[in-house]
Amino acid sequence: MNDTDDAEPGFGNKRVREIYRDGMYDGETPPYPIAYEEIREAAWENMDEAARAYVHGGSGTEETFERNRDFSAYRIVPRMLRGVAERDLSVELLGNVHRFPLMITPLGVQSLLHEEAELATARACSALDVPFTLSSLSSTPMEDVAEALGDTTKWFQFYWSSDRTVAKSFLDRAETAGYDAIVLTVDAPTLGWRDRLLERGYYPFLEGEGVANYFSDPAFRESLEATPEADPEAAVDRFLEIFGDESLSWADMAFLRENTDLPIVLKGVLHPEDARLALEHGADAVQVSTHGGRQVDGSISAIEALPGVVDAVGSEAPVLFDSGVRRGSDAFKALALGADTVMLGRPFAYGLAMDGQDGVEWVLENTISELDLTMGLAGYDDAASIDRSALTHEREL
Ligand code: FNR
Repeated sequence: MNDTDDAEPGFGNKRVREIYRDGMYDGETPPYPIAYEEIREAAWENMDEAARAYVHGGSGTEETFERNRDFSAYRIVPRMLRGVAERDLSVELLGNVHRFPLMITPLGVQSLLHEEAELATARACSALDVPFTLSSLSSTPMEDVAEALGDTTKWFQFYWSSDRTVAKSFLDRAETAGYDAIVLTVDAPTLGWRDRLLERGYYPFLEGEGVANYFSDPAFRESLEATPEADPEAAVDRFLEIFGDESLSWADMAFLRENTDLPIVLKGVLHPEDARLALEHGADAVQVSTHGGRQVDGSISAIEALPGVVDAVGSEAPVLFDSGVRRGSDAFKALALGADTVMLGRPFAYGLAMDGQDGVEWVLENTISELDLTMGLAGYDDAASIDRSALTHEREL
C-alpha cells in the first residue's frame, strides 16, 4: 500500500459504480444499451433504410469492413501488482494536451443520424473534452460547429476540391474559425464501390445533404450562376463536378503546405512507404485508416497496417488510428501497437442516431471507461506508456 490509497476513483471505476448503484439501490437500469451491436440496433430504429445503408455499408463484399473489427489476433498480456490507482489517460498531440487518447474521426452528413447533426456531436465532445474532427461533407457549416466546440480541440477534415479557389477558401475558413489542424483524407479521391448504396441508387449529396460547407462558401457561391437557395440542383451539380480530385499526387502537398499554417494530418495511410512520403511532403501526423472499409474492398485491415506504419514513422510524428474500434479494449490494443490517439467512428454515429448529444456522450463515456479499466487491469497507469510489450500476437503463442 502507498500514498495513493486515498486517490479519487478512476474514470471507469466511477462509471461502473454509478451504473451498479443506480441498478441496485434505485432499480434503474441504464437508459441505453451497453454493447455496440445493441446501440446500433437502437440507432437503426431511428434511421431509414437509406441512412442505415450509408452509415453501415462498406465497399464491395465488405471483407475489409468486417476484418477491420477483428483485433483478436492481438492478445493483451496483463501485468499484476503495479500500483495503478491513479491512471493518467492524457496525451499530447500536435501541441495540445488532451484529456483522453480518444478522438472523434470525421463522419460526413450527420443530418442522416440526428436533426441536430454535428452540433449534437460537438456539444458532447465539448462536455467531455474529447477532440472532434469535422468532415468537409458536414451538414453544418464549419463556423457553427467551431462555435459549439468552444475551446475543445477541433480538426477540420479536408476534401480537396478540383476548384482550387474553393480548396483554398476552405483552408482559410478553417483557420479563421479556430480549427487546430487540417486532416487531408487521401484514400477517397473518388467514392468506393458500395453495393448497399448502388442497390438503392442512393447518394445523399444529390438531395443536398452534407454540402453545408460548400453552399456557405464564398468562393463556391461565386462560381455559380444562381445562389444555392435559388437553384439548389445546379449547386449540387457544381458540387459533384468539383468534389474530389483523382489527379492529386504527392507534389500537390506543396499547395496545402503553402496555404495553411495549421498542422497537417494525412488520413488513410496504410503502406509504410506512404507514411514516409507523407512526412517528407510536410505532413505533421499520419492517420492509419481504411475509411471504415468503405474504399478498397479486400485491403489490409487498419489494425494489420498499424505496426508497419508506426515503425516507418518512428518518433518523428504522431500516428492516429481508426477503422474498427468498437470498445475500450480495441483502443488499448491500438495504443499498444503505437497509435498516439485512437479515433472513434461508427460507434459515436450510432450514439448520435440513438439520442443526439446524450447518445454520443453515452458512447464516449463508456468507451473511455472501458479503456481506463482495461489499462488498470492490464497494469498500466499512463496511456502514453502503453507499448507493444502489453500485447502478444497469436502467431507467437
Ligand atoms: C466516414 N468516413 C469519412 N472520412 C473522411 O475523411 N471524411 C468523411 O466525410 C467521412 N465520412 C464518413 C461517413 C460515414 C457514415 C462513415 C461510416 C465513415 C470514414 C471515417 O472517418 C473513418 O475512417 C471510419 O468511420 C472508421 O471506421 P469505423 O471504425 O467507423 O468502422
